[in-house]
Amino acid sequence: ITAAKAAPLLLEWYDRHHRELPWRVSPSMARHGVVANPYHIWMSEVMLQQTTVQAVKAYFEKFLTLWPTVEHLAAADNEDVMKAWAGLGYYARARNLKKCAEAVARDHGGRFPETEEGLKALPGIGDYTAAAVAAIAFNRQSAVLDGNVERVISRLYAIETPLPAAKPEMRGLVAALTPADRPGDFAQAMMDLGATICTPKRPACSLCPFRPHCLALSVADPETFPRKAKK
Ligand code: ADE
Repeated sequence: ITAAKAAPLLLEWYDRHHRELPWRVSPSMARHGVVANPYHIWMSEVMLQQTTVQAVKAYFEKFLTLWPTVEHLAAADNEDVMKAWAGLGYYARARNLKKCAEAVARDHGGRFPETEEGLKALPGIGDYTAAAVAAIAFNRQSAVLDGNVERVISRLYAIETPLPAAKPEMRGLVAALTPADRPGDFAQAMMDLGATICTPKRPACSLCPFRPHCLALSVADPETFPRKAKK
């Protein structure tokens, strides 16, 4: 499928079937001029690494109640942040969250950098988080690739190379598909599609906007993608 076709198909699906998430600006809100809050997007993306959307929701609300802005979080007591994080796991993420908030408050006047490069220079922000925040909060045309997106792309193009070797190829394909308008919605739509339709087991192909274009569906069993490296 070509980029010109893929993005409109996916965005049309997203407009109807996106998940309502506490940090997300829905397409109808965006049409009324509501923009995503970079602090919210950053916080949710850090929490969503290795934790499910369902589990993150309550923690996200709790953190925003305790620390409504990045400056509040920067000024917070370390102990309180670690306590609030308890249950989310991977505590290095909480320490980095605090360090990153301090850097944004101290070095950037409380405003997140708007480019992938600028974001990556902050503590605890890697390739994925930088791309996600740049696309979703700042409408940058950055290629967002997480486990969900890898699965969608591997199936759409029936990629035979196993992960992680296939990542550069996948990143290139996502970059080519990402539209200049609505890059953030495109990224969120790919993740929602991977989480709700293009699932690891028993994908709901009949509901997929890419169904007529999916190479995995036409040549094999979509469930067998992404390919796994032989041990
Ligand atoms: N998983 C991680 N980040 C996400 C996002 N922004 N939307 C949906 N699922 C996600």
